[in-house]
Amino acid sequence: MTDREAVRYAAGLIRQGRLVAFPTETVYGLGANALDERAVRRIFEAKGRPPESPMIVHVASVEMARGLAIEWPRQAAALAGRWWPGPLTLVLRKHFSIPGIVTAGLDTVALRMPSHPLALELIREAGVPLAAPSANRFTELSPTTAEHVRRGLGERVDFILDGGPTTVGIESTVLSLTTVPPQLLRPGMVSRPDIEAWIGPVELGGRPGAAAHPSPGMHDRHYSPRTPVVLGSLPGSGRGAWLYWRQPFEAARMVKLPEEAAACGADLYRTLHELDREGWDWIAVETPPDGPQWAAIADRLGRAAGVIGRPDPPGYNEPDSS
Ligand code: TXA
Ligand code: MG
Repeated sequence: MTDREAVRYAAGLIRQGRLVAFPTETVYGLGANALDERAVRRIFEAKGRPPESPMIVHVASVEMARGLAIEWPRQAAALAGRWWPGPLTLVLRKHFSIPGIVTAGLDTVALRMPSHPLALELIREAGVPLAAPSANRFTELSPTTAEHVRRGLGERVDFILDGGPTTVGIESTVLSLTTVPPQLLRPGMVSRPDIEAWIGPVELGGRPGAAAHPSPGMHDRHYSPRTPVVLGSLPGSGRGAWLYWRQPFEAARMVKLPEEAAACGADLYRTLHELDREGWDWIAVETPPDGPQWAAIADRLGRAAGVIGRPDPPGYNEPDSS
């Protein structure tokens, strides 16, 4: 099957209310027609995801996005102009055409135009926006290859559009434009200063309360491999693997991660998926360097290690100064 044929087949499934996993530049998404409530319900079932988690709606153009929001503030125009297609999600006031199940009953919707050509072709060919969380079971590690999706979701997905390994590798930055100042709800590889350069000051989103759930990504143990992850300290016992940036440690297996944030983001989940399958007792990760371009990586590793996302975090190890 050529890519073109695969996209046409996948678009047909979408129009029938079925589920298609598709590549984006960040991670693979588990997509359904965002305007079809029954199709979206299947996403929740396939992921084992609680209904209070809103999902991102993927579009193929600014025009399509504008039709799904009741306001298109000038910050949205500026950011979409700079970062779309790309790994930035904008939360805006939602249009009534989007069923409540997509947004977990919120009156806002998260919109993103991905840059992967197959994602854009799929949306255009299907002719509808795609609701799509990451294509993994709830709380598991996000997939960055079609093989990860196959292993994680198996028969629960009707078709996987294979676009090779993803290039950004970390989920999109989520920014709400419904507050003043705008709030960064989830860090991604589009960093806070990247955004502030275009629209001025942005606040860091608070931890979600028990009732409202602005960010499912903020659940405990989200983005985790099955193997326990420890951050920045050598575990007491067992056989493990170390992920490190600079200095080597005593360990059973060591994986050196790239020293540059973008390259590290691209490799991180793939490396964790691989180590997870090797059956270690633990995975220890060197605390990532400081700096805005590392914020998304530090965030995901902190969640995997369980030191971010608790109501009362015990404190996050500072990067060592070496
Ligand atoms: O890179 C990505 O964003 C990937 C690919 C597939 O596009 N998708 C992804 O989706 O990571 P998911 O469902 O795993 O994460 C959705 C994020 C959550 O952090 C959630 O807080 C936020 O989007 N979100 C969705 N709707 C929202 C809303 N109405 N208000 C606030 N946050 C929202
Ligand atoms: Mg996810």
